Amino acid sequence: RGPDTYSPTGRTTGARQRDVAQAGAYLTTAQGARLYETDHSLKAGPRGPVLLQDHHLREKVTHFDHERIPERVVHARGAAAHGVFRGYGAAAGISKAAFLAEGVETPVFVRFSTVLGSRGSADTVRDTRGFATKFYTDEGVFDLVGNNIPVFFIQDAIKFPDVIHAGKPHPDREIPQAQSAHDTFWDFVTLHTEATHHTLWNMSDRGIPRSYRMMEGFGVHTFRLVNAEGDTTLVKFHWKPKLGVHSLVWEEAQITAGMDPDFHRRDLADAIEAGAFPEWELGVQTFPDTEDQMFQGIDLLDATKLVPEELAPVRPIGLMTLNANPSNFFAETEQVAFHLGHLVPGIDVTNDPLLQGRLFSYLDTQITRLGGPNFGQLPINRTHAPVNDMLRDGMHQTAVHRGVAPYRPHSLDGGCPFLAGEETGAYIEVPVEVSASRKARDAAVSFDDHFSQARLFWLSMTATEREHIVAAYTFELGKCWEEAVKERALMVLANIAPELCTQVAVGLGLPVPEATVSLAPVGPSPALSQLGKEWPVD
Ligand code: HEM
Repeated sequence: RGPDTYSPTGRTTGARQRDVAQAGAYLTTAQGARLYETDHSLKAGPRGPVLLQDHHLREKVTHFDHERIPERVVHARGAAAHGVFRGYGAAAGISKAAFLAEGVETPVFVRFSTVLGSRGSADTVRDTRGFATKFYTDEGVFDLVGNNIPVFFIQDAIKFPDVIHAGKPHPDREIPQAQSAHDTFWDFVTLHTEATHHTLWNMSDRGIPRSYRMMEGFGVHTFRLVNAEGDTTLVKFHWKPKLGVHSLVWEEAQITAGMDPDFHRRDLADAIEAGAFPEWELGVQTFPDTEDQMFQGIDLLDATKLVPEELAPVRPIGLMTLNANPSNFFAETEQVAFHLGHLVPGIDVTNDPLLQGRLFSYLDTQITRLGGPNFGQLPINRTHAPVNDMLRDGMHQTAVHRGVAPYRPHSLDGGCPFLAGEETGAYIEVPVEVSASRKARDAAVSFDDHFSQARLFWLSMTATEREHIVAAYTFELGKCWEEAVKERALMVLANIAPELCTQVAVGLGLPVPEATVSLAPVGPSPALSQLGKEWPVD
């Protein structure tokens, strides 16, 4: 084997087994033995039964039988591209991550996706979109695994299987748009009212993007940056598309799903092939790393809340350009494995309970999806930094480990000291006080407000955007069978805004319920209440 020469454009060279054109003048078995025939199996005579002895027949059919791997349990439908990220240096004061330094160029691979549909589903459905970026930095892989909506349905990862089960097709018919699946989705999001904010974004034009190239991306959670002096800053990551944010209208989305279910996938690949490389600026909102991890009354550890940009502007820290399509969908788009735990020195996680559960889930699911623990060695997942881990063996191991002492410190194999200190490494634990004035399973009191940010979002919409939201709720709730679910959904809408609730109730032919919470445009913070007064913008 030659050295590892995987290149970020998706082409592999050098390592003989990895760059296989499958276009040679003659055919061989997988073992390299030359074949003279591939169209007729070996039989006991021209009209006789097929012989087990035919190795080529068995190898060809067996391999074909195993060509598929499980699709992702969520985000199964996706499209991806290679590119490059260039740091502006603007984050140098708050993070020691080398790839954020001015002018440093880092290869990236980005996969966009829908959440609920299966691998072959249509692109232009109403759904959240995934926006996952792998940065192949000199200090290791950093994955920013975000969505095109800045908040999430749930506050605690323990509910993730439940919200996904509620949205996926029912076991009997497996029809994604079946009325019964509408009932379970709306049942969940109206009983777990923390989902109100994300659901409202989904029912807005943000739920049906025009193009992957015209979507914002959000890290959603609050992350912790660490600078060279060890000072920490809390941040939220944002991707801002240079092409602006654009959506389809519902009728366009439906017609497109029928006429061209691959619309977004085609749009991305065509644009890149034509040299119209899509670009996004990466930016951060920054917050002081205070003990309570609150900012202007907003709990930074609650993934159902955002921080309005009026309160904390997004500061650009780099530019990403997607400039090459994958050369093999399976090898790259399908086999790429993102993980929130893939961090580099200078970027760390926080105690957001949704984020913490994700830290477990992705590696766990990938062990099933990619067949064992060694998928990090696949070309698309391989770091561009030198690796010196202590991992051994396992299914599909391709490294040939040497030496007898995979532990530290050791005195064999030439000896090896303890690891160096914190200053050079990633995964630095910032001391945080852990208090338990409530039961350890309880959520923080600050997680209790489920409506005020949804109200802010509604208030920030133009008249046309509001019309689209009313139409979306009326259409989607109209698909529910259960009157009780529709009525509960109207109660949730009453807690967002009476005018939204009334219009949807009229559309559904149901009575208008009273709000059960105060409708003053006040979040937990005076700053938010101020914003509520200034809006709507139209
Ligand atoms: C996949 C985003 C919450 C479990 C993904 C992907 C994205 C994403 C973008 C697709 C990655 C790709 O293209 O390969 C998010 C965001 C979340 C969130 C932004 C909340 C802020 C969760 C939670 C869990 C979870 C709470 C579980 C507790 C998964 C799993 C996959 C996945 C199992 C499939 C991964 C794979 O097969 O490689 N998520 N997710 N996600 N997510 Fe999440």
